Amino acid sequence: MGGTSGIGYGLAQRLSHAGSTVVVGGRGVHDVTDLDTVRIDVSDQASVLRARDEVLERHPDLDMVVTMSGIMLVEDLRDPAHSAQAETTIQTNLLGTIRVIDAFTPHLVARGSADIMTVTSGIGFLPFPLMPTYGASKAGVHAYTEALRAQLAGTGVQVTELIPPAVANAGQEKLNPAALPLGDFLDEVLSLLTTNPTPQEIVVEAAKRLRWAERDGTYTALLEQRSQALNTLPGR
Ligand SMILES: NC(=O)c1ccc[n+]([C@@H]2O[C@H](COP(=O)([O-])OP(=O)(O)OC[C@H]3O[C@@H](n4cnc5c(N)ncnc54)[C@H](OP(=O)(O)O)[C@@H]3O)[C@@H](O)[C@H]2O)c1
Repeated sequence: MGGTSGIGYGLAQRLSHAGSTVVVGGRGVHDVTDLDTVRIDVSDQASVLRARDEVLERHPDLDMVVTMSGIMLVEDLRDPAHSAQAETTIQTNLLGTIRVIDAFTPHLVARGSADIMTVTSGIGFLPFPLMPTYGASKAGVHAYTEALRAQLAGTGVQVTELIPPAVANAGQEKLNPAALPLGDFLDEVLSLLTTNPTPQEIVVEAAKRLRWAERDGTYTALLEQRSQALNTLPGR
């Protein structure tokens, strides 16, 4: 789910070209004409269950679910009005991920051999202060993913966390001139998956400094550097 644009759409295209049967989900499915689609709003439980039923009816042997749906919002925490963005972010990124996983887990476990891929962000490991709730939501998805993996151990369902760095789409290219071109990111992800098809985490080279900042002792300096972006907020 979350495959109607950007990273999700690119990954779906690559997997489809490689011979997989792929269904992409999102609210804007009309924008996708070259892949099978399902309409889903992950912030709405009824929509998630409807989409799940539709997908399993079309593909009763479904063996992988990717929870890619996500929004990346800039927030000014000195303005309490940001709480609307905070709630939408948690509804979509964290609760949306949980809803989709809950909807498909019984099917995947019953199948006895399947994959769940969650999507976090380098920002879940090293905050980008312009997007506070986004970072919190992704740190939450990381913790949830680790617990999910432990709970599904022995069921045949593998759990993988994709941890992208800044990738040049969805406005990130404006916030971060060093954002990785989408094609380069996808090339590296596919190459890592070819080497190891069931990794616990997919961390491309550019994401490593974020994923491991705390371990590497670079966390404080990098956070200070990333806080410079707050100067772009109106009135700062
Ligand atoms: N780009 C980056 O720099 C970057 C870095 C790290 C992590 N990520 C993560 O990677 C994932 C994909 O991001 P992207 O860069 O490819 O952004 P994107 O192009 O904006 O894609 C976001 C996807 O999420 C879907 N989505 C958003 N709200 C939804 C909702 N309520 N229900 C269902 N689907 C919803 C969108 O579909 P509809 O609008 O059609 O609903 C779209 O398919 C996100 O989880 C993002 O947090 C991105």
